[in-house]
Amino acid sequence: MAQRETFGSRFSIIMAMAGSAIGLGNIWRFPYTVGEGGGAAFIIVYLVSTLLLTMPVFMAESIIGRTAQAGTFGAMQKLAPGSKWKWMGFLTVITPLIIVSYYSVVGGWSFGYLLKALTFSFNADAVDSIGGMFSRFTTSAWTPIVCHTVFLGSTCLIVLRGVKKGIEKFASITMPLLFVLILIIMVYSISLPGASAGLEYMLKPDFSKLDGKTIASAMGQSFFTLSLGTGSILTYASYVKKDENILISGLGTAGFDLLFAMIAGFAVMPAVFAAGIEPGAGPGLVFETLPYIFAKMGADAPWLSAAISILFFASILFAALTSSISMIEVGVAYLVEEKKMTRGRSVLLLFLGCWALGVICSLSFGPLAGISLLGKTIFEFCDSLTSDYLMAFGGLLFILFAGWKMSKATVREELTCFGKSKLNVALFPLLYFLIRYVAPFGIIAIFITNLIW
Ligand code: PHE
Repeated sequence: MAQRETFGSRFSIIMAMAGSAIGLGNIWRFPYTVGEGGGAAFIIVYLVSTLLLTMPVFMAESIIGRTAQAGTFGAMQKLAPGSKWKWMGFLTVITPLIIVSYYSVVGGWSFGYLLKALTFSFNADAVDSIGGMFSRFTTSAWTPIVCHTVFLGSTCLIVLRGVKKGIEKFASITMPLLFVLILIIMVYSISLPGASAGLEYMLKPDFSKLDGKTIASAMGQSFFTLSLGTGSILTYASYVKKDENILISGLGTAGFDLLFAMIAGFAVMPAVFAAGIEPGAGPGLVFETLPYIFAKMGADAPWLSAAISILFFASILFAALTSSISMIEVGVAYLVEEKKMTRGRSVLLLFLGCWALGVICSLSFGPLAGISLLGKTIFEFCDSLTSDYLMAFGGLLFILFAGWKMSKATVREELTCFGKSKLNVALFPLLYFLIRYVAPFGIIAIFITNLIW
């Protein structure tokens, strides 16, 4: 049997996992969910839910993936042979494929906007037409579909090259670059006149907005941004060597992800206030606000404006690509390991399926806008189905599996580097308590609140 691929170093594990975690969830979704959820109050709930609920799920996925050395479906079959758990593995193969289909539409928008930036479309003359530009772009039939095709095609090409040469290499180069780019944009955004209102908005808590829905949305955001409940982290963990400390790589990934979300928030929110735009303006926020700022800036400093806008949309594009490859990899691991397909065939099959669903999602902004499922457009339906329900459900199943189905001894071995890490040994009782009780019951409680609210 061919040797299973592994990541080369701790740096590349964290870059690949952080690459999966850091994505549109941080740059595109985080700022507008914070906006809708009441600024800093939302961030506090989000932090608590990350520590108590989603970090334990992260650990559970890492433990399952690395113990089994297989993707989601295979892992369940290996660790609980003959049981129904494998169907849960199957569910989590489906979830990332639904996500990648609509995610690729937004990834395609960033590609389209990068092209606009490269052709100096956000110039001083365009100031008044920027708002209309976004709706014209997303409602037209063909251009977003072409952009979606390019985005998904690039994702698939990277996945095709495999774990070491494709995923690891791409993430190790683009993630540090992305960090530098977004820092530059943040500094620029904070220096804008009127930006302090945005900083205050991010830092001053408004607890009056907190209700069951906001708490559920903070948990949903935390699942989404850490790529949990989809098997992406589980699959990546299966490529991690046995002597690696998975607690450290998990905390490193979550730490980077949070840092990045905050920086992205500080890059976007001050600009939103400087432009006088409503902070809860929804998914269009970064595609409408920032180009407006770039266009305004174009009047005084056209070259700087062009450079910053190119950096910004290139950052979003890189961030989105390292995330979408982790979603496709879940499906590839399943088809290669369980259906014995070649990597090439698996990638092609997934490309075709996700491309078709993505086209429908893309058209739901324009020609198919009239079709609604439970009062939502097809795009909104896929987003809500996955981030409000399937991810938390998948995460819950993973954590129940690690906490209640796997033996405590195996979980301890995995979390403590086989007893070699003294710190992890000392922390183990707390971690196990979180995995077994706090996280599952917390997730169920929030889930139920969300359903009946
Ligand atoms: N975490 C990614 C982001 O923040 C999205 C993602 C979801 C990636 C599920 C993989 C699996 O954009």
